[in-house]
Amino acid sequence: MNVIVIKIGGLVAQNSDVLEKLLSELASSSQGTAVSPDFVLVHGGGKEVTAVSQRFGFEAEFREGIRITSPGELEIVDMVLGGKLNIDLVRRAQTAGLDAVGLGGQDGSTFTGEVLKVADKPDSRTGRVTATDPRLLKTLLEAGFLPILNSTSMDGRGQGLNINADEVAQEVAIALLARSLIYISDIPGVLKNDAVVPTLDEKAIDAEIRAGVISGGMIPKVRNAIYACSRGVGEVLIGGYGAEGDLARLLDHQTGTSITE
Ligand SMILES: Nc1ncnc2c1ncn2[C@@H]1O[C@H](COP(=O)(O)OP(=O)(O)OP(=O)(O)O)[C@@H](O)[C@H]1O
Ligand SMILES: [Mg+2]
Repeated sequence: MNVIVIKIGGLVAQNSDVLEKLLSELASSSQGTAVSPDFVLVHGGGKEVTAVSQRFGFEAEFREGIRITSPGELEIVDMVLGGKLNIDLVRRAQTAGLDAVGLGGQDGSTFTGEVLKVADKPDSRTGRVTATDPRLLKTLLEAGFLPILNSTSMDGRGQGLNINADEVAQEVAIALLARSLIYISDIPGVLKNDAVVPTLDEKAIDAEIRAGVISGGMIPKVRNAIYACSRGVGEVLIGGYGAEGDLARLLDHQTGTSITE
């Protein structure tokens, strides 16, 4: 298999105009030749979760770019990520001519986990992935479907978990031995002094996190990138999306940040 896992996050996951262009590019790249890649989409949607949570009176809380999810917020995560955003993306993909199927970690046990322990938050339902099962994804890909994954999941007792979508993308990429894992977000790549850093390795990533150049939601992306490369994923790319063709430009290393071990 020739798999490319694309995680879309930030406002890109909700911007109709950008999504239309990206899905159109996926539709044209998936067609035809024997070497066409099989795409898997993973979406975040933290900004929408935060907005809806606020309406219900919850205050969003993050540690190192990872959301701490209270039991009440987990219901909102299920509704927003597993419901609204996932359904919306599937509809858009179908409209673009892609045969999309929406699913979360609990479907076919594609990715399941356990609570991520946070010292003073014993109730948190933020999880980490401890197991993956790629059978459902492989079945869908072999039959020509585009899987669109949200980051809801469950633990061994059947309790819901909210997992950072960057980690989900990383684990799915490892399970499918993807040739590329791409993080598309609101930024054109990893930025330093307002310029995109074209390549990063583990040493540079540690140094930039310590220096505060890489912070917040960028931390899980770069940490996952290094781990994914060490587990057989071909390459990890971080970039933005604005115009059709931007995916090809990222894959071609013309834009964005590429991370190697
Ligand atoms: N050096 C850096 N270069 C680029 N962005 C950075 C850097 N350091 C921190 N960031 C922040 O990381 C953010 C991306 O992570 P964020 O979690 O907000 O988005 P996402 O992961 O794409 O979306 P979601 O979490 O909803 O899936 C950027 O918008 C930026 O604010
Ligand atoms: Mg994020």
